[in-house]
Amino acid sequence: MHNLLVSGGAGFIGANFVHYMLEKYADYRIVVFDKLTYAGNPANLDPVRSDPRFAFVQGDICDLDAVRNTLRAHDIDTIVNFAAETHVDRSIMQPDAVVTTNLNGTWALLEVAREFKLERFHQISTDEVYGAIPLPQRSREGDPLEPRSPYSASKAGAEHLVYAYFITYGLAVTTTRGSNNIGPYHYPEKAVPLFTTNAIDDQPLPIYGDGRQMRDYQYVRDHCEGIDIVLHNGTPGEVYNVGTEVETPNIEMAHKILAILGKPHSLIAHVADRAGHDRRYAIDCSKLRALGWKSKHSFDTALEHTVRWFVDNQAWWRPIKSGAYLEYYRRQYVERGDAA
Ligand code: NAD
Ligand code: TYD
Repeated sequence: MHNLLVSGGAGFIGANFVHYMLEKYADYRIVVFDKLTYAGNPANLDPVRSDPRFAFVQGDICDLDAVRNTLRAHDIDTIVNFAAETHVDRSIMQPDAVVTTNLNGTWALLEVAREFKLERFHQISTDEVYGAIPLPQRSREGDPLEPRSPYSASKAGAEHLVYAYFITYGLAVTTTRGSNNIGPYHYPEKAVPLFTTNAIDDQPLPIYGDGRQMRDYQYVRDHCEGIDIVLHNGTPGEVYNVGTEVETPNIEMAHKILAILGKPHSLIAHVADRAGHDRRYAIDCSKLRALGWKSKHSFDTALEHTVRWFVDNQAWWRPIKSGAYLEYYRRQYVERGDAA
């Protein structure tokens, strides 16, 4: 495993993973294969752009020939698939894109991985595939998948395809189910970067419903370390949860962001709830810990690092919050009679 294709590597977690892997492994080469959708941003890869071990190819994972040509040209032995439509609210507004990219795209990558007899296919999945988990339960890898949004259903479907390629064709696959990530390069449509950038600008923080929904917010670097451990020490055919095992209600998260920034708590605005909103995800990560992994950042530390990054990197996010982003924001929040 030396020549990795990282699909979706121009997005939030993919870019952090590329930085992490190139820092850690002197002899690895990484090709980022990314369509550059609204969420893909070449600037996320600026820190590695001049590294001779790095290459970028713009392409769609649904395009079998483009994937084939890239694997051949770069002698790829491993695919790590981050490419996806990742926002639950967009998947509710317009469900076709999650089906196309998350399902068909994963299938196309698997098909080419099988053709090229790759050493490993690693699928980046999510704790959302388990569905809403009541207190005090915690999801383990063998639990049933009960996804409830178009996004999580497409991710669960993709996982089933990955497993089918392991059983049917003997492709060496692994899967990680990460909890919510936070950190640098997070596209400001997701809750933490949206609330942070709004708060910096003294704009309302739109909390869905009562804000008592809970998420396990983990620092993106911890997630990348978990993926790395599974790639190297995971068992083919197996799935591993990755998270902190601590859940925080959204309303508490929002108050903490305001406290870090010294902004008034009156910026919090309760707005109409998300349709079918999963109130809680909670995972048990003992299977990954048994491979030697542990989460290093508490929620407070991770949030502090994240908020500081957004304060220090306004040149990264200010251009994003314009044009098509504002159109999305208007449809998602203003037209629904919500915040802003
Ligand atoms: P992101 O939205 O920031 O980035 C997604 C990337 O995929 C973008 O660069 C985009 O251009 C690219 N992409 C989209 N469609 C493509 C296509 N058809 N072909 C090629 N590239 C395409 O997403 P993220 O938050 O970095 O998430 C990465 C992966 O991790 C996803 O698979 C997501 O489901 C999973 N995940 C995310 C979280 C989270 O908290 N963000 C948690 C668990 C799992
Ligand atoms: P999000 O970052 O979209 O991640 P996910 O839905 O995949 O977990 O949302 C995190 C939580 O924050 C989720 O419970 C929905 C909530 N949320 C809000 O309350 N307001 C918002 O504007 C957004 C985007 C999310």
